[in-house]
Amino acid sequence: MERSPIIAPSILASDFSRLAQEVHAIEGAADWVHVDVMDNHFVPNLTIGLPVVQSLRKATSIPFDVHLMITDPQRWAPGYAEAGAYNVTFHAEACDDPVALARTLRAAGAKAGLAIDRDTPVEPYLELLPYLDTILIMTIKAGFGGQAFMPEMLDKVRDVRRRAEVNDLEIRIEVDGGIAADTIEQAAEAGADAFVAGTAVYGAADPAEAIRKLRGLAAGRMGLA
Ligand code: DX5
Ligand code: ZN
Repeated sequence: MERSPIIAPSILASDFSRLAQEVHAIEGAADWVHVDVMDNHFVPNLTIGLPVVQSLRKATSIPFDVHLMITDPQRWAPGYAEAGAYNVTFHAEACDDPVALARTLRAAGAKAGLAIDRDTPVEPYLELLPYLDTILIMTIKAGFGGQAFMPEMLDKVRDVRRRAEVNDLEIRIEVDGGIAADTIEQAAEAGADAFVAGTAVYGAADPAEAIRKLRGLAAGRMGLA
């Protein structure tokens, strides 16, 4: 199956006082905008929630890739789908019935994603892939932007890619954490095809140009350059 890379800048690294402008700065260059929702409980950090997502949704047409780093996603995730998120990803560690929640999200009109944090093996979740649209492999410990990429997490990406190929599954394999010009190629080579980048995009002088560069590097390793 031919795949083209998805580049999803994370607004966690943007200026929260100018969110709409920060999203406008990546329009036309980014595929998705990655929205990190943290609840100061599942992770120690606290970011934004549903009211901000609802407001921001009206300010742009870029699809929202919502990454819920929250406890009790069964309770909160459907609201993000109803708010118009394109993809809603919740954490495996926070959910005891991922298939049921994925079904609920799909019924609410969103793609369903499952995130696997740094210390969680992916093996037990491989059989759930047919019920998911996205699997997000953390390449850091979830909670904060600006951390160093962990190449050893790519074994999980390889495992997922292998299973997806064997079973001919349509699933996006997304990586999140420390993705930048010097790390995106190894992630693409391992089988990732969606790439979250916070610091590498919003820390750049020209975010749109940074996205184009990341896309070129990823596509090169995915055989599409
Ligand atoms: C961290 C978030 C990431 C974060 C990535 O838990 O899930 O999406 O914004 O930031 P960078 O790209 O700076 O590692
Ligand atoms: Zn994220």
